[in-house]
Amino acid sequence: MLPPAKDSADQVPAVQVRQLVVGFDTKIILDSLDLDIRKGEVLGFVGGSGTGKSVLTRTILGLIKKRSGTIEVFGHNIDALDAKAYQQLERRWGVLFQQGALFSGLTVRQNIQVPMREYMRVSQKLMDELAMLKIAMVGLPPDAAHKFPSELSGGMIKRAALARALALDPELLFLDEPTSGLDPIGAAEFDDLIATLQKALGLTVFMVTHDLDSLFAICDRVAALADGKVIAIGTMTQMLAADHPWLRAYFHGKRARQVSALEADTNPMPPTAPASMPAAQKG
Ligand SMILES: Nc1ncnc2c1ncn2[C@@H]1O[C@H](COP(=O)(O)OP(=O)(O)OP(=O)(O)O)[C@@H](O)[C@H]1O
Ligand SMILES: [Mg+2]
Repeated sequence: MLPPAKDSADQVPAVQVRQLVVGFDTKIILDSLDLDIRKGEVLGFVGGSGTGKSVLTRTILGLIKKRSGTIEVFGHNIDALDAKAYQQLERRWGVLFQQGALFSGLTVRQNIQVPMREYMRVSQKLMDELAMLKIAMVGLPPDAAHKFPSELSGGMIKRAALARALALDPELLFLDEPTSGLDPIGAAEFDDLIATLQKALGLTVFMVTHDLDSLFAICDRVAALADGKVIAIGTMTQMLAADHPWLRAYFHGKRARQVSALEADTNPMPPTAPASMPAAQKG
């Protein structure tokens, strides 16, 4: 049994990271990083390539060892849990990894059943029914169940990987660049799917992305990573209005023209808006 969480009130974030330090050899990647993922939100996570977004995700998931700091998931300090309690906690999240989304030697149905086999003790018949349910949930046709990843399009692979992430009915979903490699229409459809599932299932979603359209479309808040820290966190409107040079370069640079156009259309910001500035994080 999981020990009782420190505080079971709704105010406890789904994930709370404090003073996290992660490095490889002499290189520090995350340097006293603080971050809260609130329950029920879609939190977008941006940052330059190679700054540590995937490393943070993998560290929260227990796949990379941290040097110091604390990580609490649903109020449980992950360092304080024994193996069994950790496994119970692990069941409550699902992950769509940036790389290696699916096992190439398994069909879609078998891929979705990998976490089921690991964590559930149910019959093959029930696992088959559950897998077909997940396949329908992510908008794949039933015949995708018997296909191997090499027989699927990029967009179908993303959907199948999402179905696997949802295999255990998680409360918390980690998505690392879910729309990368998709064309704009495919990416928008995938965003819609995530938004629909998030609302229908009451999910908390942590989404690493470079896709400004996704940030606009589905994120309640956005956090920005630079120099090993979360330098700002707030709504997209707040991020766009912020005066921070990195944020301006990221959100208003040449590649963000479309976003700027959207911004002008939908969110004319007053020249001074102190109340809507993103909370700069300490550290
Ligand atoms: N297992 C590892 N061993 C050594 N270095 C690593 C390891 N994993 C990641 N790194 C390094 O950590 C840094 C951050 O990598 P990470 O994959 O988190 O970047 P990212 O922000 O996700 O980038 P991208 O947007 O390109 O996916 C990089 O310099 C990377 O080379
Ligand atoms: Mg990455």
